[in-house]
Amino acid sequence: MRDLLPTEASHMTLVEETFKSTLASYGYDEIRLPTMEWTVLFQRGVGEDTDAVGKEMYTFEDSSGESISLRPEGTASCVRAAISNTMLRGDRPRLWYTGNMFRHEQPQKGRYREFMQVGAEVFGYTGPDIDVELIQICEDVWRKLGISDRIDLQINTLGNLESRLAFRNALVDFLVPLKGTLDPDSVRRLDTNPLRILDSKSEETQNLLQNAPRLTDYLDEPSTKYFEELRRILSEAGVSYSVKERMVRGLDYYSHAVFEWHSDDLGAQSQVGGGGRYDGLVERLGGSACPASGFAVGIDRIALVRDAAGKSADHRSCDVYVISLDSSGDTYVNKISRILREQADLRVRKHHGGGRVKNRFRDADRSGALWALVVGEEEMAAQTITLKPLRTDEPQITIATEAMIDFFNDKLKKDLAN
Ligand code: HAM
Repeated sequence: MRDLLPTEASHMTLVEETFKSTLASYGYDEIRLPTMEWTVLFQRGVGEDTDAVGKEMYTFEDSSGESISLRPEGTASCVRAAISNTMLRGDRPRLWYTGNMFRHEQPQKGRYREFMQVGAEVFGYTGPDIDVELIQICEDVWRKLGISDRIDLQINTLGNLESRLAFRNALVDFLVPLKGTLDPDSVRRLDTNPLRILDSKSEETQNLLQNAPRLTDYLDEPSTKYFEELRRILSEAGVSYSVKERMVRGLDYYSHAVFEWHSDDLGAQSQVGGGGRYDGLVERLGGSACPASGFAVGIDRIALVRDAAGKSADHRSCDVYVISLDSSGDTYVNKISRILREQADLRVRKHHGGGRVKNRFRDADRSGALWALVVGEEEMAAQTITLKPLRTDEPQITIATEAMIDFFNDKLKKDLAN
């Protein structure tokens, strides 16, 4: 049961906000999706043979005997929502969502049972230009977060259904005689999802795969063209990437372009985001055929990459800590606090609970505020405030209350920027 304490939470919020504003700047609309769905949605949408659904899902029966699951990812829900709310009839929505996802994995650095994703899904576009847009959105976010040089983009194509089937058959023909030497997971996948064997973690299996058929040799002409076009647009847009022929992604709905972002900062869990095209999913979930593409990024993992880059959020609960020295000054400082919040856009924490003056200043210091704003009898009588800097050696000053907005807009904003 994982808590995100204020410092970590504010860092996650920063990452999330950067995604939100970037997605909005591309004209994407927010959608809020439920945390729970009927289990069958994920079984049908993501695939029962995937780890996320087959092994790691939190599934339970509700009091009416229905099988419910906590969402392991957002794509299946987004597609369901688009179909059931008739969003795909004549429209081509571009949607984004954020929220907590659940997978019963072995927890370790960067891998949690409850984690946060931000994702985007676009519907109705067949060409690779929209895939490149999705990639560019993430590239913009990496730049804004100062981590572009720590994240690498890897791409691959799974081709269309026909190409993938032809390749799947060839791969099974190659692997069946080697069944006795494959790792147990791969043996299971031979029947259920042979393509996933390609990204097996077992070194022996990877060695056996050296001579396996290659997907590129089975791509038909439309699939090859699609991938060439994707690569051309990416290069023209100045996006650097590498092609990883064995990347097949862990979820079953993909076709054509697939992509992942990785960072060396995360150890074993190097993947910070992933996505791709999933042209068959809308139909599989009961809608009319509709091409679609999307990505999801792990917010927890991006925060870890920023930590590694020394860019952890510097958490401060407030900018100004307001202390009234006498209870008779409470109404006055309440007013001052409200004015500062509304007119100077500052985070203002007011002291509560009385106590010794020394302890009030101790609380001010612990709040992380840059300034303590102090009002006693003298200040009230003269309509002034006293400002004590908490993080520098500058002397305290007393200024007219009516001048405080100008003061804060000028001085404090400068301090905050440093
Ligand atoms: P995914 O690759 O399974 O894709 O997950 C996306 C991201 O979620 C991962 O790259 C990782 O950063 C994060 N993530 C996954 N599991 C964990 C975990 N246990 N702890 C922390 N972070 C984790 C999807 O979920 C697809 N729905 C992406 C997509 C959208 N494809 C098309 N549209």
